[in-house]
Amino acid sequence: MGVEICVEGLTKSFGHQVIWQDVSLTLPAGEVSVMLGPSGTGKSVFLKTLVGLLKPERGSIKVAGRDITKLREHDLYEVRKLFGVLFQDGALFGSMNLYDNIAFPLREHTRKSESQIRRIVLEKMDMVGLIGAEGKLPGEISGGMRKRAGLARALVLDPEIILFDEPDSGLDPVRVAYLNQLIVDLNAQIDATFLIVTHDIASARQVPDNIGLLFRRELVMFGPREKLLTSDEPVVRQFLNGRMQGPIGMAEEKDAAQVEQELAQLGDGGDTTTPGSQELPSRLLPGPGITRPPRWEAIARREAELHRKEVAGA
Ligand SMILES: Nc1ncnc2c1ncn2[C@@H]1O[C@H](COP(=O)(O)OP(=O)(O)O)[C@@H](O)[C@H]1O
Ligand SMILES: [Mg+2]
Repeated sequence: MGVEICVEGLTKSFGHQVIWQDVSLTLPAGEVSVMLGPSGTGKSVFLKTLVGLLKPERGSIKVAGRDITKLREHDLYEVRKLFGVLFQDGALFGSMNLYDNIAFPLREHTRKSESQIRRIVLEKMDMVGLIGAEGKLPGEISGGMRKRAGLARALVLDPEIILFDEPDSGLDPVRVAYLNQLIVDLNAQIDATFLIVTHDIASARQVPDNIGLLFRRELVMFGPREKLLTSDEPVVRQFLNGRMQGPIGMAEEKDAAQVEQELAQLGDGGDTTTPGSQELPSRLLPGPGITRPPRWEAIARREAELHRKEVAGA
């Protein structure tokens, strides 16, 4: 059913450079969450911190109730097996064919026989639509296929949590659409907890149950997709509408005077969307024959959140 990840008061720095601070959020078990943010805001660092590859200075990360920031290397190794990670470049071994790349974690971390490995590898390759490409080298296939191969490899140990680092980067819009459908189908089939880092707004609008936004060393907001997509918060609105006017600038941070001026212009009708009136796109559904188990807890929580918003806005 996937496991919950509960992050509280998390802060990460490199030397004197604070990457983000006091980040708190819960990735609900079995749901798809997206983390958005301008480049350089520490999204990849966040994923690496969640799997224990980087150590935070403060805060806790509870994975299925265990705080991984407190674990010793041996126990951390066990917890890491719950994760499947799709790194930005797919991270495939260039000299190995797809079959061996995907079999690699099984050979490395399990004592399965080659015939058991074969069954698992072909099952995962089938799930991501790569049957027939077993003998291909990563350099011989398209970027979209490499992403899918990376995904198949992330699936072989039957992870409870899958982290995707910009799975859509470098893909054309059609490939992105296929990949998004694949992600939604997989989530329904294997029911793991998903976290996707992306800056593709179209994907963020359609794919997840929850959206978060990192900006200026803070988690600006994290919550049900509907809440962020209809939010009036200037940073959230600017990012989700892909506009130039607003607090986010080329160099990431604009000076306060410029932001104020732009926000005033938006108030003068310079903006095409009215706060709170944004159209809510529907969530991408799993393909025919794939049913997503109902998530009653999530439904109740979402209703509570949305109700709270209405009350606050009344
Ligand atoms: N291992 C590291 N050591 C020092 N600085 C790092 C390290 N990894 C990332 N950073 C810095 O952290 C910041 C955020 O990086 P990153 O997480 O890659 O951003 P994003 O994925 O949002 O584009 C960048 O300024 C980067 O230079
Ligand atoms: Mg990154």
